[in-house]
Amino acid sequence: EKAEHKHYMRKEIFEQPEALGRTLAQHLGQPGLTVALPAGTAGVFRDVDRLSITACGTAYLAGLVGRYWFERYAGLPVDIDIASEFRYRDVPFRAGNPAIFVSQSGETADTLASLEFARARGQRILSIVNVPTSTMARASEIVLPTVAGPEIGVASTKAFTCQLATLACLAIAAGRERGTLSAEAEAALVRGLANTPRAMTTALELEPAVRKIAHRVAAFRSALFIGRGTSYPLALEGALKLKEVSYIHAEGYAAGELKHGPIALIDKDFPVVVIAPGDASFEKTMSNMQEVIAREGRPILITDQKGASLAPQGRWETLVLPTMPAICAPLVFALPLQLLAYHAALALGTDVDQPRNLAKSVTVE
Ligand code: M6R
Repeated sequence: EKAEHKHYMRKEIFEQPEALGRTLAQHLGQPGLTVALPAGTAGVFRDVDRLSITACGTAYLAGLVGRYWFERYAGLPVDIDIASEFRYRDVPFRAGNPAIFVSQSGETADTLASLEFARARGQRILSIVNVPTSTMARASEIVLPTVAGPEIGVASTKAFTCQLATLACLAIAAGRERGTLSAEAEAALVRGLANTPRAMTTALELEPAVRKIAHRVAAFRSALFIGRGTSYPLALEGALKLKEVSYIHAEGYAAGELKHGPIALIDKDFPVVVIAPGDASFEKTMSNMQEVIAREGRPILITDQKGASLAPQGRWETLVLPTMPAICAPLVFALPLQLLAYHAALALGTDVDQPRNLAKSVTVE
């Protein structure tokens, strides 16, 4: 089945428009203009003072994007942590607050243990899982399924974007419930989300350009990924994907942190992936890119048409996506990052679907 694609990772990357369409259909109401969550979710965000999100790896990074959305659209403070930390912290819980757990497999040991930890402290348990029969799904009060289909490649790709779509729908539903989102604002967000599969298809057409860049990146030992706002967790995800499948050392940073340390690394042998849609933080991210240019680093700008028209000269490479609503950007910008990791791995001859030392599902602590 993967024959046409050579690897599951590529197959799963290219399945994303369809997988996302399925996941959105699961969470959006029929006319396509409202979010319709499963029975049992009504009221879960209404009288609460905070929300926790817990997960591991890529699922945790999806949660980090989710935090921006819950705070922006629902005015709900979010406490987010990695499962292997969360379960050992002395978290001051307030009974009845919602706790969201995100997992592709639904079997990750630390995430499961965190779920039980939160449940024992009176939290309402919601899980975003891709395997509906998993232990996590069975242990949750409310299950929000991602309908990505089986993910075989060890690197999470389509599960990640379907987790993002589900978190976006939940944040919108929370905003409606808490009265922080007008009907018009909700309809605009939902329209944006509904167009995401199409924008993803356009993003996938950039593969030949991404492949060329990946070959250039593969010549270096390290890479840095930077972004602001929801592009910051994406920078972390781009770095995770690259190191996981190509074994190139990569780090993700909030662009504003560059000056606080990592800039010391920049020289002519350092590719820096700058994730910057033409949004409110674009100019600030561009001044960080200028700092890289001034030190002869090699910025690879991933932006949209709006950003491309405003970006300064001196870039090493540029990838241009269509301009899209802010809520879609993390879902669509994830695709060139996945393709970059995939093609860098191919260039270096690593085992893309089964990287060394990694398991698809981490069922031990
Ligand atoms: O099955 P889960 O989503 O709970 O797995 C969590 C992480 O192990 C997983 O996302 C891991 O980081 C991936 N290999 C990343 O590509």
